[in-house]
Amino acid sequence: MEKFVINGGKRLCGEVRISGAKNSAVAILPGVLLAESPCVIENLPEISDVRSVCTVLSRLGANVEFLDNTTVRIDPTGVKAFTVTEEMSKSMRASSYFMGALLGRMNHSRVAPPGGCDFGVRPIDLHIKGFEALGAKVMIEDGMVDVKADALSGGYVYLDLVSVGATVNIMLAAVKANGVTVIENAAREPHIVDLANFLNSMGANIMGAGTNAIKIRGVEHLHGVDYSIIPDQIEAGTYMAAAVATKGDVLVTNVIPKHLESIIVKIREMGAKVEENDESVRVSMDTRPRMCKVKTMPHPGFPTDMQPQVAAVLTVGEGTSIINEGVWDSRFRYVEQLSLMGAEVQVDGKRAFINGVEKLSGTRVRAVDLRAGAAMIVAGLMAEGETIIEDIEHIDRGYENVVGKFMALGADIKRIN
Ligand code: EPZ
Repeated sequence: MEKFVINGGKRLCGEVRISGAKNSAVAILPGVLLAESPCVIENLPEISDVRSVCTVLSRLGANVEFLDNTTVRIDPTGVKAFTVTEEMSKSMRASSYFMGALLGRMNHSRVAPPGGCDFGVRPIDLHIKGFEALGAKVMIEDGMVDVKADALSGGYVYLDLVSVGATVNIMLAAVKANGVTVIENAAREPHIVDLANFLNSMGANIMGAGTNAIKIRGVEHLHGVDYSIIPDQIEAGTYMAAAVATKGDVLVTNVIPKHLESIIVKIREMGAKVEENDESVRVSMDTRPRMCKVKTMPHPGFPTDMQPQVAAVLTVGEGTSIINEGVWDSRFRYVEQLSLMGAEVQVDGKRAFINGVEKLSGTRVRAVDLRAGAAMIVAGLMAEGETIIEDIEHIDRGYENVVGKFMALGADIKRIN
C-alpha cells in the first residue's frame, strides 16, 4: 500500500495551479449520457474519481477517449445499458448521478447504492422523492435502486434539506422531461451552476441555478458540446489552509475568487493576509493562527469539505476554536488521528472544541476519508518531524498530483510504497 511521508516544518512559498473541480466533473460526466452526439470535456482533474466515472461510462457502452490528461471525448450514442453494478459504483459517491442521467436518457436506471466517504448514514431519500415527483417508480430490489418511468413529466420538488446530490440528480432527470420542473430549497454550490451551464450549452432550459429555486423546462433533444470544467474550490482552499499552517506565502492560481469567499473570511480571521486578483489569490501568514469559530453550511456558507483542513490549522491556533458541523452527522472521525500528533480536540456531537497547542509532532496517521486525508497533509506539513500518512487512496480520489504540487511549494513530501 502506498503512503505519504512528510518532513514537516517547511514554509510553503511559490505558486500552485488549481485543477478542475472534482464535484463538477463527477456530475457533468454522467450528464454526457443525455447528449445525442459526442461531447468533449476539458479541464478535468487527473484523479481516481474521474477515472472511475469514465470507466462506468465505457462499461455502459459509451466510447470514451482521453485526448490528453485533462480532456476526454465521450460518444454516448451507443449506450443501451442502464445498470451500474455494486462493483462499478462502490468506490465513489457520485455513482448515484447515473440514476438521474440514465433515467433522463432512457427512462430507466438500475444503480447500486453509492460508495464514497463514510460520514455516517448517507441517505438518498431526497433523490428518490425527486424522481417520484417526475413520475418515476422507485423500487429497491436485490440491493439495487431501480428507477423507471413510462415517460417523465415535470414536477414540483421541495427538498427538506439542501442536498447537492439530490439537486444534481433531479436536474439530470428533468432536463428532457415533458413540462416544467421546479426544485425549491435547491443547493447553490458552484458545481450546481457549472452543471446547469453545461446542460444549457447542450440545449437544455434551466433557470435559477445558483439560487434556491431552480426551474427546468424540459426539451426533446440535447446535443454534444465542448465544455470546460470550473476550478476546484476545495483544492484551492486546501492549499490556502496549508499556506496559513506553514506561515507561508502562496499564490493560488486558476481560481474563481468569488467561490472562495467564505474560506477567505475565515483565514483572514486567523490572521492571514489574502490578496484577491481576477483569477488568483495570494495567501501569506506570519503569525500563529488566531482562534476562530467555524460553522459549516451549504453554499454560500463555509464548505463542509474544508472543515477538516481548517480544523488541522486551528490545532496550533492561539486559544480555543469551535467547529460546528452543519451538514454531516459524523465528520469528525479524523480528530483521533490529529490527536495522535498532539492536537487537543474534544468532540461533542456535531461540535469540536480545539484547544490550540504550540506544535504538532509527526507520527503515523491514516487518511480516514478524502478531506480528512487532506487535513493530515496540512497537519504533517506544519508538524515537527516525520508524518506517515496511510490509506492515501482516499486522497488520490480528489487531489491531482498532490505530492508534485506541494513539493513545488517547498514541502518535503514523498509517496512511498
Ligand atoms: C456532496 O455530497 C459532495 N459530493 C460532498 O463532497 C459534500 O460534502 C456534500 O455534497 C455537501 O456539500 C459530491 O459532490 C460528489 P448532500 P452529497 O446530498 O451530494 C443529507 C468531498 O469531500 N441528505 O448535499 O452526497 C445528508 O445526509 C465530498 O468532495 C439526506 O438526508 O451531499 C447530509 O446530511 C464528500 N437525504 C446533507 O443532506 C438525501 O437524500 C447534505 O448531503 C440526501 C442528502
